[in-house]
Amino acid sequence: MARPRTIFVCQNCGAVSQRWQGKCDACGEWNSIVEESEAAAAPLPGGGRARKGRPFALEALTGETNDAPRLPVGIAELDRVTGGGFVRGSVLLLGGEPGIGKSTLLIQAAAALARHKHRVVYISGEEATAQVRLRAGRLGLADAPVELAAETSIEDILATLAQGSTPRLVIIDSIQTMWTEAVESAPGTVTQVRASAQALIRYAKASGACIILVGHVTKDGQIAGPRVVEHMVDAVISFEGEGGHHFRILRGLKNRFGPTDEIGVFEMTGGGLAEVANPSALFLEGRDVGAAGTAVFAGMEGTRPLLIEVQALVTPTALGTPRRSVVGWDQSRLSMVLAVLEAHGGLRFGQHDVYLNIAGGLRIVEPAADLAVAAALVSSLSGGRLPHDSIYFGEISLSGAVRPVVQSASRLKEAAKLGFGGAVVPAATVENDALLTARIARIGDLVADIAGRSVSKTQSDRSDVTD
Ligand code: TYD
Ligand code: MG
Repeated sequence: MARPRTIFVCQNCGAVSQRWQGKCDACGEWNSIVEESEAAAAPLPGGGRARKGRPFALEALTGETNDAPRLPVGIAELDRVTGGGFVRGSVLLLGGEPGIGKSTLLIQAAAALARHKHRVVYISGEEATAQVRLRAGRLGLADAPVELAAETSIEDILATLAQGSTPRLVIIDSIQTMWTEAVESAPGTVTQVRASAQALIRYAKASGACIILVGHVTKDGQIAGPRVVEHMVDAVISFEGEGGHHFRILRGLKNRFGPTDEIGVFEMTGGGLAEVANPSALFLEGRDVGAAGTAVFAGMEGTRPLLIEVQALVTPTALGTPRRSVVGWDQSRLSMVLAVLEAHGGLRFGQHDVYLNIAGGLRIVEPAADLAVAAALVSSLSGGRLPHDSIYFGEISLSGAVRPVVQSASRLKEAAKLGFGGAVVPAATVENDALLTARIARIGDLVADIAGRSVSKTQSDRSDVTD
């Protein structure tokens, strides 16, 4: 009998090489390559001879579907990210670091659906049933008729699911603990994770059940990352949050049946994950009103406006090369804003360390944050306080012009709703009377305006700041 060939598979990206290496050539990850025996595919029926193809019926686009194609969970923040509920026969991957709250969110979703008389099966490959029960009890969900098991064998799971009526939702927590007899590799390896996911996807498509796979994201690459199944599933959602903060963001990364730019905001409480209907209020909580170096940015996450505090600290440097440190924003975008402020605003940052932080541990990707970042930087450098009840948005171009951004009306409306009285916006922004707006055409105007405040600092102490 031929010896099974061994191959070396990167557990981070799934790249295959013929020999072991310390660093993966494909993704650059270190120590992520593991020896696996080549996937011994299930033996072909008929003694190894490929069988002749069998023709199948082709269908029209306008087909009959009996059941509602979507299954809303009733947790609005979750439904928003999936695009209105789980789609029948689809497979969704929920990725996130260990301990972020994936199991908590899913047991809450499972219980919500089970209470609406849907058959929900929760397979835990990591925790014993007693542990899952204990958590459900603590969350006040013990009465929900969720069907629970602690299993890791794909063959056994599929055999169990085939009994009784087809479940509407199956949760597999996590895909990295599953293993199938179809391949020989150890559980947790790329080959096993892929083969297990494939079997579950086949089941979902054939039965119409919706499957959620939990995938741990680990930095050390000891277990295969969720990346290796991302392209196979219908939707990928990541659950994020900063260690020290209590809120969590659910973010759609890929969705064959809905939008990918929506976020869901949750707060981790003693009683599980609570929906945050008004995230702006949460992100502005405990704001240092009136301090120099902070500006409120009116951003958009998908269709939802979100007010976020941008903090900057500009201090004289003791180093030869000044520090540029960013949390929650793009490092190169900061360099660009600094360069534009130097070239078109007449400011000098060369002798200063610059620290930029997005409050609350949120990550912003919108270029519309440029103006808020610039305002915070200028304010910190000059010591001029910004009006505490104004919001900022606008994109800065390399020429120093402040360009308009999309959805200005929603941004201004959200600010007015939260009690802000003013807005500093690009000059070309369409008229809106919700707030008193200061229109900025060039970055130099912003610098002049803020620097003007630092001169009349004692005055503004009295009129601008409410302590
Ligand atoms: P968990 O859902 O087990 O994370 P994951 O499945 O992503 O690994 O959540 C773990 C963390 O959540 C744990 O550190 C404790 C915290 N937690 C709460 O703060 N409140 C709660 O009600 C629950 C259930 C968990
Ligand atoms: Mg878990």
